[in-house]
Amino acid sequence: MQAPLTTLRVEDISTTNEAMARCLRLAALAASSDVPVVLLGETGTGKTLLAHAIHNSSAREKGPFISFNASAMSDTLLESQLFGHERGAFTGAQQAVKGKFEQADGGTLFLDEIADMSPLAQVKILRVLEYGEFERLGSERMQRCNARVLCASNCSLRDRVRQGKFREDLYQRLNGLTLLIPPLRHRLQELPALIAADLKAASIKEGKNITAIHPEAMEKLMRHPWPGNLRELSHTVRTMTLFCEGEVIMPHHVVFSPDLETSSAGVHASVEVPAASMNNNHSPNDVDLSLAGAVQRHIHYVYDQTNRNQRRTAKLLGISRATLARHLQKTSASK
Ligand SMILES: Nc1ncnc2c1ncn2[C@@H]1O[C@H](COP(=O)(O)OP(=O)(O)OP(=O)(O)O)[C@@H](O)[C@H]1O
Ligand SMILES: [Mg+2]
Repeated sequence: MQAPLTTLRVEDISTTNEAMARCLRLAALAASSDVPVVLLGETGTGKTLLAHAIHNSSAREKGPFISFNASAMSDTLLESQLFGHERGAFTGAQQAVKGKFEQADGGTLFLDEIADMSPLAQVKILRVLEYGEFERLGSERMQRCNARVLCASNCSLRDRVRQGKFREDLYQRLNGLTLLIPPLRHRLQELPALIAADLKAASIKEGKNITAIHPEAMEKLMRHPWPGNLRELSHTVRTMTLFCEGEVIMPHHVVFSPDLETSSAGVHASVEVPAASMNNNHSPNDVDLSLAGAVQRHIHYVYDQTNRNQRRTAKLLGISRATLARHLQKTSASK
């Protein structure tokens, strides 16, 4: 079973995939130094997990690990969130508050979803990285920054620089080391081992005695493209564990999110029925087979895979947030 994030170290993560092994070697190197690191990878590939592991394997392991998602922050709140404020610095500031840089003192500051930071956030962070100093809002006193900065993005920062959406100077500052975490579909040889580990953990959790996976079930898992990567994998394994009443995972226990949303799959799969009678046996009347229905299911699937993050879902689907919101609203209205 995976160690908890608070204790997980780089050497606890194993792989048989060459690209992932390269990434882990760089992670070990990153842990042995204080250089800023950029973790790149699709959603659910393990950027947050690896950031924790680098921190826990570094000389700063006893210090705090502070996460900050600047893309989710309005510009008005940004400065006080990053740098803190003194009492009375602005209306409503009734007491002094530490910002993220100060909270991360002696430890690691993890800047998540960095590609989507506003221009103001980029300028503010660049200043701290350049001068190694910051001040709380309402204070004249400069404080030394002693936080190691790790950041993550699920799109290429270089592309964002080319598009004029990310500052080149900040990119250069942050980019001490870049770790590229490969998507799960490029690491298929380790899928059986990852599934076995997740299955063991899920079986214990659900009080099941699952001992094997039917070859056809494994084939179904191997054929899936895994757009939600390891997050989707652990979700799928958890679901198949729930559906399995016996000792062997059968193909009909393997249900991917959009199938689940056609509702009949989960209900059928919870009963032991021969695999042949279970595969895609929804009657056309049970399931909305219209194109609009498929679109809705796909939207919800991607939405789940991004941990219900609207901004990221819209980006992956290539639609605007307003369009996404309209689709999501449509579903909740029809429920
Ligand atoms: N090497 C791994 N082995 C097993 N499970 C993993 C591994 N890496 C990540 N996971 C699991 O996959 C899930 C997603 O990981 P994580 O949150 O780190 O991804 P992420 O890349 O930060 O995603 P996002 O872009 O959505 O923030 C977590 O439940 C995590 O425990
Ligand atoms: Mg993350």
